[in-house]
Amino acid sequence: MKSWIEDDNINYEYIIRYIRDTIPPREGYIKEMEEFAKANDVPISQPESIRFIEILLKLMRAEKILEVGSAIGYSAIRMSKCCGADVVTVELSDEMADRAEENISRMGLDQKISLIRGDGVKVLAEMPGEGVFDAIFVDAAKGQYMEFFPNCMRLLKKGGVLISDNVLYKGMTATDELVVRRKITIVRRLRAYLDMLNNHEGLSTAILPIGDGVALSFKE
Ligand SMILES: C[S@@+](CC[C@H](N)C(=O)[O-])C[C@H]1O[C@@H](n2cnc3c(N)ncnc32)[C@H](O)[C@@H]1O
Repeated sequence: MKSWIEDDNINYEYIIRYIRDTIPPREGYIKEMEEFAKANDVPISQPESIRFIEILLKLMRAEKILEVGSAIGYSAIRMSKCCGADVVTVELSDEMADRAEENISRMGLDQKISLIRGDGVKVLAEMPGEGVFDAIFVDAAKGQYMEFFPNCMRLLKKGGVLISDNVLYKGMTATDELVVRRKITIVRRLRAYLDMLNNHEGLSTAILPIGDGVALSFKE
């Protein structure tokens, strides 16, 4: 029925190839980061997803962005560069955080991107203030999205956008037919998360079948 271009993409291969051919080729160090991620099995945002997020952030004229799940800093760098925003990014793995800091420095973005090491649940809970960020990009452990949520809501400005990645999880969120037994808990959590986003007073959510599924939630 469909052939996967890669494991974590939910769309037909010919559609993805076509869309990717329309996206301007990445160059220089951004390209090197993509090659590093591919060679080392580091999951970074798919080209069409990060492209979409960049356009959204430009439209919003985002100035302050929070990210949960930095990996090697790829999406944090792209989000900052596309609209000149300040980015705070949170990463649990020291190995990833080391690599991300190196990449952020190589791109000359130390003044624009600050990386906080630790578990996003705890780090977000300790962040002071309300309505601090224009956009929050959640791209960490899928089973924890619900735990990040209360502080994402507190930290997101009214009129801001919560972007949750990988919410369709290889299609498993949408149909039991695709669910593999060892992923069932994560799938249930993602379904509960999407259900909660869709029914949350003060949020308007759209789920987009791009990459591995992106949920966009506007804070009213
Ligand atoms: C999909 S990768 C992030 C990719 C990155 N946003 C990009 O597109 O370039 C997910 C990252 O989240 C991190 N992570 C997982 N659980 C986390 C948590 N509870 N708090 C912070 N980071 C977490 C993982 O170590 C991993 O590096």
